[in-house]
Amino acid sequence: MNASEDGWVPHWAGSQNVYLLAPNEMTARTLHKDLGDPLADITSHDTYLRGFPHAAFRRMREEDPVAWVEEQGGSGFWAITRHADVIEVSRDYKRFTAARGIRIEEMDSEELEARRSMMELDPPDHTRLRRLVQPGFTPRVVLTYEEAFRKLVRLVFDRVLPLGEFDFVTEIARELPIRMLCRLLGVPETDAGDMVAWGDQMISNADPEYTPVIIDKVDTEEYRLLPFRSPAALEVFRYAEDLARERRAHPRDDIITTLLTAEPDGEPLTDLEFKNFFTLMMVAGNETTRHTISHGLIYLHDHPEQLAMLTHDLEALSSGATEEILRASGVTMHFRRTAAVDTEIRGVPIGRGDKVVMWYTSANYDEDVFDEPFIFDIHRDPNPHVTFGTGRHVCLGAALARLEVRVFLEEFLSRAPSFELGPPDRLRSNFISGIKHLPIRIG
Ligand code: HEM
Repeated sequence: MNASEDGWVPHWAGSQNVYLLAPNEMTARTLHKDLGDPLADITSHDTYLRGFPHAAFRRMREEDPVAWVEEQGGSGFWAITRHADVIEVSRDYKRFTAARGIRIEEMDSEELEARRSMMELDPPDHTRLRRLVQPGFTPRVVLTYEEAFRKLVRLVFDRVLPLGEFDFVTEIARELPIRMLCRLLGVPETDAGDMVAWGDQMISNADPEYTPVIIDKVDTEEYRLLPFRSPAALEVFRYAEDLARERRAHPRDDIITTLLTAEPDGEPLTDLEFKNFFTLMMVAGNETTRHTISHGLIYLHDHPEQLAMLTHDLEALSSGATEEILRASGVTMHFRRTAAVDTEIRGVPIGRGDKVVMWYTSANYDEDVFDEPFIFDIHRDPNPHVTFGTGRHVCLGAALARLEVRVFLEEFLSRAPSFELGPPDRLRSNFISGIKHLPIRIG
């Protein structure tokens, strides 16, 4: 991304992860001007500092869609990069279990038991938890939050937009999803700052800006029984314990009370189950949507003709734009399963116990499914992206995330149709495609 015509580059801009231009590959609507190194190490957190290595994944989709990838400090894994295969793996829990962990990192059985949330369960245990939490997140229920979210967005914009120049991530993108989540869970908004900081430390556990306990550089052995091997989880656990005590004493009509008092199949949630669920919500419901909003603003800025169309007819086009932003950004780049039996994918034999990693972001650019996947098109229809996964673990918060991105677009573009962006500063992570800082100038 370049400085504006008058040469404006904000003095507080982060590191210079500027898109490189490759004019022979570009049209006005090309999404990524730098597709990266076709031989990039997809396991390295550093690789993603330049953005998702699209050239490497395009090569794998074409040449080796079920590829064996060696990794440092782990057994290696099968990288699944095509859309159809991601769907096959996600939907067949009998062949591909979630119960042995869903991140590339391997865990022994003690770690797994301590850190297990609903994400690391297969039916019937998964079904029990999912049934309990699902009613609070259906599209119909989530729509009832729209006005509250719109008000929240307006309040934040009233404070921030008059500043003129600011960091879009810290002032806007980071603020919105967490405040909404606090409301939804009945957590005081005054605690939102702590939630953001803890969420950052846990999910961004490979980036030194957010944590001193960097997962691939520091010995994290003493934290191995905590979510994300992160000491921040201790604070979230303490917070969740206090919250549980308070809600048991003073029940309310909210999701937390339901979780603590309902007895699915005659069995209440254990304290550890509750703490792990609360931690999961803090991370899953906050970071992902935040980064999607930031990516969305960058795509629109880089595609002025799409931005102009959208701004001209926000009501009609905001849902389509939301889906295209979700597809293109693919913020949760992968999740893992483990082969529960000897099996095969596309004729490639997979051994029982092998790790199988589904690269959703690659599937979202699969040429077999998406016409011109490297073109950003807010009219794209159909748009069967797998940004929220699929199958039994399909994202619980998908309707909420969609609502948040759409309302953000509607409110932001009606108040700030013209803006300049400085270079984005990207998160060091092979798991979350994140933007840490994004300078913006309104007007
Ligand atoms: C753009 C934003 C989001 C993205 C990209 C995203 C992505 C995903 C993906 C890919 C999965 C599937 C994991 C798997 O197959 O193992 C998932 C599951 C989940 N997500 Fe999201 N998510 C987003 C927003 C949210 C929000 C807002 C919430 C909560 C308020 C949330 C809560 C969850 C939970 C609890 C699960 C686990 C569901 C289960 O195991 O049954 N997510 N998410």
